[in-house]
Amino acid sequence: MDELKIFSGNAHPALARATCEYLNVPLGSARIFKFSNENIFVQILENVRERDVFIIQPLASPVNENLVELLIMLDAFKRASAGRITAVVPYYAYGRTDKKDQPRVPITARLIADLLTVAGANRLLTVDLHAGQIQGFFNIPVDELTALYLLVNYFRNKQLQDLVVVATDIGITKRARDMAERLKAPLAIIAKRRIDNSGKSEAITLIGDVKGMRALTIDDEIDTGGSLNNAVSLLIDNGAVEVSACCTHAVFSGPAIKNLAANTATEIVVTDTLPLGPEKRLPKITSLSLAPLIGEAIRRIHKGTSVGALFE
Ligand code: R5P
Repeated sequence: MDELKIFSGNAHPALARATCEYLNVPLGSARIFKFSNENIFVQILENVRERDVFIIQPLASPVNENLVELLIMLDAFKRASAGRITAVVPYYAYGRTDKKDQPRVPITARLIADLLTVAGANRLLTVDLHAGQIQGFFNIPVDELTALYLLVNYFRNKQLQDLVVVATDIGITKRARDMAERLKAPLAIIAKRRIDNSGKSEAITLIGDVKGMRALTIDDEIDTGGSLNNAVSLLIDNGAVEVSACCTHAVFSGPAIKNLAANTATEIVVTDTLPLGPEKRLPKITSLSLAPLIGEAIRRIHKGTSVGALFE
């Protein structure tokens, strides 16, 4: 496995290209298309026998199509006798379906782990899972990177005064606390409640003081933007003078752009784990690239050196 090979599905070729640029390696050549009956076909156009293969494919929209494409790619590489195959899935969709919290519901995050493994993945490289425990759904090694330090550095360079970091949900509190410590800011927490399975949520209460302060919210993802809008309103109602927001994954589904345009947040900082088409680029949205971090992790996995040391 002395040769590293990087391939991309159709989910996010720009991220794959940027990662290859960081590593100074060419993007592997493959043919991926759909027949008229919608069946996906994959053919690898170069020899990968015994190579160390990385397939970059976040589970971006269309999620289910990109998932199946990744599974078919894994199968193709396995049958082409690749030495080791790492599924690089910077955004792991279905991460929120990670427990049986209602009667007769699936644990889809676990199902996808099984699908990836059966299809041929020997390792998973991912970024900021919805819940770290999802790592344990895999019986193959999982490296989970975090965008936290990139986001911290971005806001540290802004030297914002009177800053308070706000967890938009109890689930993100630990990451928010890490961010607050690194930015030497206090922490506030919003208790949020989901309204049935409609995708809507409400911010019930705010724990902590934001009066007269600049609030910086953090979440793992912004999906429809509903949680963020509720958070912005609650923070302003509680006396915050300004609200900025950040998250790792810009899912931006359905009414997200309308919602984000409507809120009074001054800046929304995201990363490029998912593609951000021109229709999703509001002036107040800043996108930071994780390609160098993903590239460096790939280099370390390939060389057998520590990935954890990247975050020490
Ligand atoms: C869920 O618990 C996540 O951490 C995010 O808070 C959620 O995905 C945001 O969803 P939306 O933007 O649709 O409110």
